[in-house]
Amino acid sequence: MNSEERILRSFDEVCPHELRETFGTPLFVYSQSILEQQYAALARALHNVSATICYAMKANSNMSVLKVLKRIGSGFDIVSSGELQRLVKIEADMSKVVFSGVGKRDEEITLALQQGVKMLNVESIPELKKIDSVAKREGIVAPVSFRLNPDMTHEVHEHDVTGTRASKFGISPEFMSEFWEIVKKSQWLKLKGVSCHVGSGGADIEVYRNVFKEQLKVAGQFKELGAEISCIDLGGGFAANYGGSYTPIDLAKLGSLIESIAAGNEYEFIVEPGKFLVSEAGILLTEVLYVKNNGIRDIVIVDSGMNDLIRPPLYNAYHEIDLVLTESEKPREGTNFVDVVGPVCEGGCFFARNRELPEIKQGDLLAIKNAGAYCFAMASQYNGRRLPAEVLVHQGNSTLIRKRDSIEDLWRNELI
Ligand SMILES: Cc1ncc(COP(=O)(O)O)c(C=O)c1O
Repeated sequence: MNSEERILRSFDEVCPHELRETFGTPLFVYSQSILEQQYAALARALHNVSATICYAMKANSNMSVLKVLKRIGSGFDIVSSGELQRLVKIEADMSKVVFSGVGKRDEEITLALQQGVKMLNVESIPELKKIDSVAKREGIVAPVSFRLNPDMTHEVHEHDVTGTRASKFGISPEFMSEFWEIVKKSQWLKLKGVSCHVGSGGADIEVYRNVFKEQLKVAGQFKELGAEISCIDLGGGFAANYGGSYTPIDLAKLGSLIESIAAGNEYEFIVEPGKFLVSEAGILLTEVLYVKNNGIRDIVIVDSGMNDLIRPPLYNAYHEIDLVLTESEKPREGTNFVDVVGPVCEGGCFFARNRELPEIKQGDLLAIKNAGAYCFAMASQYNGRRLPAEVLVHQGNSTLIRKRDSIEDLWRNELI
């Protein structure tokens, strides 16, 4: 590796060293320009289709990020009333909100109906019955979709699989007639759509083709039974560009595929991307506390840990790591194979193992890339560690969008 390859000097025209000075580390930094570019690229790929992009906000639910996406036209995919409340707060357009998730509680369904979300993606027969009873009680007709479990999957980490029969998500096709009987008998349920989501990180267009075909088949069968299906929610999972040996989705191919399945029918298509929109827009800045040698190789100990970014131990996920240099600093001579680890007292608290990086020294600043999706969103205070701050950068400007936890935040809700 040429040591220049893993060097970062600016992010959305902002110098990360200045961010460290102003806000401290660990620090999540999100680029508004990259967010907007990712959204625009997907919208362009779908421009020939009647399509709504519903950002899967579980990936990153910071309200400033949501506001950027709302402003450029995005809808949202939610999985809880907590997420819905965030959307209420930013005055999102509820007619572009779909509600997924296998365990929707009474009060969550109630809020979703009161807020007038576009569709509740139903994941089981008992959930459908629950929605029916809540809708009746509230006097609001519930727009629902049948979340299909097609028994198909991409080749992804087992924790990212959501579309096989053994997984907890969706409903197998053999329950279609039972589902339809409940809808038909109720004046409080309206079956509008067929939805699906077969996992996160999929790049294989043929898998998407098979899943989408299955959805169209199921939608056709519901229509034959008398349902007025107007919406096909294709789910998310589109692989972002994580670098290394990771294959990102081919947007042009995805766009043509969706165009081809849309041809000759009147459906509105929904997509629910999370990672694709926000992953590359984020970096995690972390300072090197110590470099020690264990007799095998150098261990680079940084001030961020698995409590801030858990994806490597949780999913065996790969995150590129760059050494951050100022514009004028010369690249270091040579590279080294190192482990990059955090301070949390767990063997799993690591960001990279045996990774070739430029020479790293105590006090250096590192940028962990693709930290925009499922990173801060999964962060915790484990080991008595404060949740990091978050900053939005855009064309040379930076704005603090979440303060670092205070020490008191560590025990805020404890009764002592
Ligand atoms: C129902 C649903 N839609 C969309 C997504 C977004 O997936 P990704 O971030 O991989 O696009 C998820 C992720 O878990 C999901 O469960």
